Amino acid sequence: MIIVLLGPPGAGKGTQASLLSRRLGLPHLATGDLLREAIAQGTPLGEEVRPYVESGRLVPDPLMVALVRERLMTPAGSGGAILDGFPRTRDQAVALDQVLAAQGRQVEAAVYLEVPASVLLQRLSARWVCPHCRATYNTVSAAPRLAGVCDRCGASLIQRADDRPEVVQRRLEVYRQETAPLIAYYQTAGRLRSVDGTGPVTVVLERVLAALGRTPVSGQVHGDRYQVSG
Ligand code: AP5
Repeated sequence: MIIVLLGPPGAGKGTQASLLSRRLGLPHLATGDLLREAIAQGTPLGEEVRPYVESGRLVPDPLMVALVRERLMTPAGSGGAILDGFPRTRDQAVALDQVLAAQGRQVEAAVYLEVPASVLLQRLSARWVCPHCRATYNTVSAAPRLAGVCDRCGASLIQRADDRPEVVQRRLEVYRQETAPLIAYYQTAGRLRSVDGTGPVTVVLERVLAALGRTPVSGQVHGDRYQVSG
């Protein structure tokens, strides 16, 4: 099963993808994380993509398509995946359909997380991430137990280079121009599932699961910080 998560920066794609991955037993493929990891490691790929990522521009389509194709063809990816941050342009969406069709597969659903711009800006300015294990926090809605320290691995938290206000503005503009048209693309294909992305994380997760025709969560979400009750 291939599920695409769509939505603007800060809509909660990474947060929901991580929870869905555990809930549905599918790998979480986050292109932004792959790129940031390559940058942090100083690999040739990282050096190539750094100027794009840190300035809020899109990495060129051929590079992104090759990166995702490679992962979807591994044994782990061949069983399905939650795609977070890909596709992001029409060309990427068409390429994804072609890669999957060649394997007799298709995107089962594109979940669009709808969140107003004012909420996005609040979320992004309060986001802190762990550079070591990639856990994401929010000083307003999902604070770490000890300020500035990752609950999972104890590393010091950082803010993303592309969460600076001027870069956020550019990312939102790029989203409007390049990625928002994918909503119509998946709607036309009959695969769009629009979900209200506001409210508590666990409530959004229940909406997403319902949109996918899955039983809503009734107790603790596997993991740590997000609990439905108790
Ligand atoms: P990427 O990492 O994919 O960034 P993005 O799409 O801009 O999305 P974000 O990670 O900012 O937000 P999110 O929707 O995942 O929200 P999150 O769950 O973290 O891409 C970064 C860059 O890489 C791009 O700009 C581009 O340069 C490059 N790139 C990546 N993929 C590419 C591609 N396919 N093609 C070309 N270039 C590509 O949540 C945000 C905050 O809100 C967190 O603090 C979280 O705790 C909080 N939060 C989440 N849900 C809730 C809630 N329900 N209530 C309250 N707070 C919440």
